[in-house]
Amino acid sequence: MVSNRATIILLAMLAVPGIAEAASAKRGATLAQTRCAACHAIGRTGASPTITAPTFRRIASQYPVEQLQEALAEGIVTGHGPMPEFTFTPTEIDDFLAYLATLKRR
Ligand code: HEC
Repeated sequence: MVSNRATIILLAMLAVPGIAEAASAKRGATLAQTRCAACHAIGRTGASPTITAPTFRRIASQYPVEQLQEALAEGIVTGHGPMPEFTFTPTEIDDFLAYLATLKRR
């Protein structure tokens, strides 16, 4: 039965938060890929296509999470060069930050 299966998956996600988090980070990676990768290096290696755009590795290490959260919610506008104004939904912000966390140097 479908509902039983959904329940089991949900329970598994609650029992192992890492699973839900990994899924969120994966959606965040897709977001970064589709909306940011034209200018920023979004992965663990490589330079940004736009030389002045900081790599997401650097952003991840440089900014406190709360500050990024706020900036994303309001739309990063100032000092963002040719970048059109964009805003993230709260879910997208969670996903994006989960992805950024995977880039932090441990
Ligand atoms: C059209 C190119 C372009 C795109 C697309 C782009 N950026 Fe940027 N971004 C830049 C440039 C250029 C800078 C450096 C601006 C500066 O320092 O003057 C920058 C800087 C930033 C910074 C640092 C801001 C600061 O104050 O230091 C963040 C955070 C950032 N971008 C996030 C994003 C995110 C998230 C996305 C995708 C949703 C994105 N950017 C998409 C060009 C872009």
